[in-house]
Amino acid sequence: MAKVDVEKRGEVAVLRLSNSPVNALAHGVREGLQRGVAAAVADPSVKAIVVTGEGRAFSAGADITEFRAGPKPPALGEVIASLEASPKPVVAALNGLALGGGLEVALGCHYRVAAKSVTQLGLPEVKIGILPGAGGTQRLPRIIGLEAALDMIVSGNPITASAAAKSGLVDKIAEGDVVEAAVAFAQELVASGKGARRASEKTIDPATVPAGLFDKKRAALGRHPSGPLAPKNCIAAVEASTDRPFAEGLKRERELFSELAGSPYARALQYAFFAERQAANIPDIGPDVKPREIKSVGILGAGTMGTGIGLAFLNAGIPVTIVETQQAALDKGAQRIRETIESNVRRGRITADEGEARLARLTASLATEDLGTADLIIEAVFENLALKKEIFAKLDAVAKTGAVLATNTSTLDVDAIAAATSRPGDVVGMHFFSPANIMRLLEIVRGAATAKDTLMTAMAVAKRIGKVGVVSGVCFGFIGNRMLEAYLEEVQAMLLEGAAPSDIDGAVEGWGLAMGPNAMMDLAGLDVGHRIRQEHAISEERRRLYRATDAIVGMGRHGQKTGAGYYTYGGDRKRQPDPDIEALIRKEAAAQGIVQRRIAPEEIVERCLLRLVNEGAQILDEGIALRASDIDTIYLNGYGFPAWRGGPMWQAENVTGLREAADKIRAYEKTYGPRWSLAPLLGRLAESSGTFTGAKT
Ligand code: 3HC
Ligand code: NAI
Repeated sequence: MAKVDVEKRGEVAVLRLSNSPVNALAHGVREGLQRGVAAAVADPSVKAIVVTGEGRAFSAGADITEFRAGPKPPALGEVIASLEASPKPVVAALNGLALGGGLEVALGCHYRVAAKSVTQLGLPEVKIGILPGAGGTQRLPRIIGLEAALDMIVSGNPITASAAAKSGLVDKIAEGDVVEAAVAFAQELVASGKGARRASEKTIDPATVPAGLFDKKRAALGRHPSGPLAPKNCIAAVEASTDRPFAEGLKRERELFSELAGSPYARALQYAFFAERQAANIPDIGPDVKPREIKSVGILGAGTMGTGIGLAFLNAGIPVTIVETQQAALDKGAQRIRETIESNVRRGRITADEGEARLARLTASLATEDLGTADLIIEAVFENLALKKEIFAKLDAVAKTGAVLATNTSTLDVDAIAAATSRPGDVVGMHFFSPANIMRLLEIVRGAATAKDTLMTAMAVAKRIGKVGVVSGVCFGFIGNRMLEAYLEEVQAMLLEGAAPSDIDGAVEGWGLAMGPNAMMDLAGLDVGHRIRQEHAISEERRRLYRATDAIVGMGRHGQKTGAGYYTYGGDRKRQPDPDIEALIRKEAAAQGIVQRRIAPEEIVERCLLRLVNEGAQILDEGIALRASDIDTIYLNGYGFPAWRGGPMWQAENVTGLREAADKIRAYEKTYGPRWSLAPLLGRLAESSGTFTGAKT
C-alpha cells in the first residue's frame, strides 16, 4: 500500500515513504507526506524532520502508471512546497535510489544525507519524454550550479552518492545507518540553531551565467535518444531558473512540462519503459517456477559472438570457460577479450583491479570436457546444423545434470538441435546480437521441449548480465531477423525503383533510426546475407530483387570489412556514396524493365515501417511473439529503432492507425503483388477496430 509511516526518534519525526518496490510517489504517498509534514510542523515536541524511504529506494519518482489518468491532488509540487516551507529543518536520508520526483522531494528538503552505497541520484524524466516537473529544474541549478544541473537534467543520467557529495547535492555521506546519521545531523542542526535552508530562496546571479551556455547546449543536442522535444524543453526550463524569480520559474517549468506530457514521444517512451518490463512476464509460467542457479558459464566457439558473449558474462562477475578446436583461434579469441577489457581500463571505465578480476575469471581451453562443471553452456560455433547437432550430442555426454544448454544460432531450428540430446528440456536458444557485450537485446528462443525452468534461467541470466530478454518461438530468423528480412527486401525494391542507398539511409535516419539499412548491411557484411540466400530456398521474387546486391557481393565488395559495399569507406570508416554502385543498380533495374523515379523520404519510411508491421502482425498471429510490445522491445533494443517512436507495432497502432495501415498495405499489394499480402491478423483488427494489445490470436 502506498503510504508514509511516521516514527518519532526523540525530537525528530522520521517520515518513511512506503510503496513497494521502489516507493513511487503514488497518490497515497503524496497525501501521507503532506499530512506527515503538517503534523510534524504542528507538533511542538518535534524540532526537526527526516524524510527517508522503505526498502531499497528513497523513491523512484512519480508513479508513471498514474500519468494516463491525470493528476489527483495533492500535486507533488505542492507537497514539496509544503515540505520546503517547514520552519523546522528537514533532512532527507537517502537510503537508496532517488530518481525523478524522488530526488525532487530530496531537493525540497533543507539538507541531504546519503548512504555511501547509493549509486543512483538523478532526474531521468527526459528518458520518459518529460522534464522534472516538481521544481527540479529550478532547485537543482540553485544547489549544484547551472552546468552540472543541465548535464544531469538533459542527459537524465544518475550520479553516485560520492559524486553527489562533491557537487554539493548531498551534505554528508553516511558510512553506517543513514537514518541514524540523518537524525544525528538534524539534532546537530537543532542544537546549533541552524534552521531551514531553502533552495527556493537562493538566486542565481545572471552575471554568473556563462555567455551562450544554453544556446551551446541546444546546438550540442544532436540526435538525443529522447527525441526532438523533451531535451529542448529541459534546457528551456533550466534557463528559466536564471532570468526570473523562483515562483515564475516554477510556472515556466509547468508550462514546458505540459507541452511534453501529452506528446506522442512521451507516450512512446513511457510505453517502451513498461514494454521492457512486461517482456519478463511469461503467461504460462508462474512464480513457483524458479530459475536454476548459474555460477559458471561455458562457451563453445571464440569467434565474433563467442568472445562478445564471454565478455558480457565476465563483466557481470561470472566465470567463463571458452572452448575452441584450434589453438590459434583460441588465442585470437582470448586476445580479443583481453584487449577489450584492457581498453576499458585505459579509458577509465573500470579500475585496473576490476580489469584484472575480470581477466582472472576467464579460462581458455581446447577440450569440450572442460565444460563438465559449467551451469550454463552457450554454443556459438559456425552456423551449420550438422555441426551444431554434433556439438550438442557431445555436450549431452559432457555437461553435468541440470546444466542449461543454449545455442546462439541465428537461423537454425532449435528443436532439431535439442533433439540431438537426450535432454531437450534443458535446451534453449539464446540469440545475442553483435557486439554481444554491448547490445542490450537477447532473444530467448523457447523450443517445443524447453522446460519452464530452463526458460526462466535464460531470462534471469539476461537480467543479470544487463540484457533485455525477450521470448521468441522457433521460426527462421526468430522475431527480429524475420521482420528484418521483410524490411530489407523492400529496401532492395526501392533501390531498383530509383532510390540511391544514401536516399534510403538518409530518410530512415532522418526519421530516427540509428542507422539506415544499407549502412547496416555494409556493417554486418553483405556476404552474410548472400550466403544465406544461397543456402536457403527463397522466392523467385526475392532472388530477383537481390540481383543487384548479389552482383555487388560478386565484386568482392562485402561492406565495411572490405572497405566497400553499397558505399565506399575511407580510412575514417565514413561512408561515401559510390556512383559506380548507383550505376550498377540502374543497369540491373533497366534489365528488369523497371522505370526508375525519385522516391520521397516519406514513402521510403512508410514502406520500411509497414513491411515491419505486417511481418510483426504475422509473427504475433503465429504465436511466435507473446505480445506486440515484445516485438517493439526487440526493435528498440536490437535494431536501433528510436524509443521515442515506440517501436513499429506501437507506431502502427497509435500513429498510423491499424485501419489506415491495413488500407495502405492493400494499396501496396495492388502495386507490388504478393510480397505485400496483408497479414490476416492486421486485416481482422482493422475490420473490428481492434488493437494489437487486445488481439486474440
Ligand atoms: N512509477 C511506477 N512504477 C515504477 C516506477 C515509477 N516511477 N519505477 C519503477 N516502477 C516499477 C517497475 O515498473 C517494476 O514494476 P513490475 O515489477 O511490476 O514490473 C518495479 O517498479 C521494479 O522496477 P524495475 O524492474 O525497473 O527494477 P530495477 O531495480 O531494475 O530498476 C529503477 C529500478 C532504476 C527505479 C527503474 O525502475 C527506473 O528507472 N524507474 C523509472 C524512474 C523514473 O523514470 N523516474 C521518474 C518518474 S517521472 C517523475 O518523477 C516526474 C516528476 O518530475 C514530476
Ligand atoms: P565466427 O566464425 O566468428 O566464430 C565461430 C567460431 O567457432 C570460430 O572461431 C570457430 O573456430 C569456432 N568453432 C567451430 N567449430 C567449433 C567446435 N566444434 N568447437 C569449438 N569451436 C568451434 O562466427 P560468429 O559470427 O561468432 O557466429 C557464431 C554463431 O553465432 C553462429 O551460429 C551465428 O549464426 C550466430 N550469430 C552471429 C551473429 C553475428 O552478428 N555474427 C549474431 C547472432 C548470432
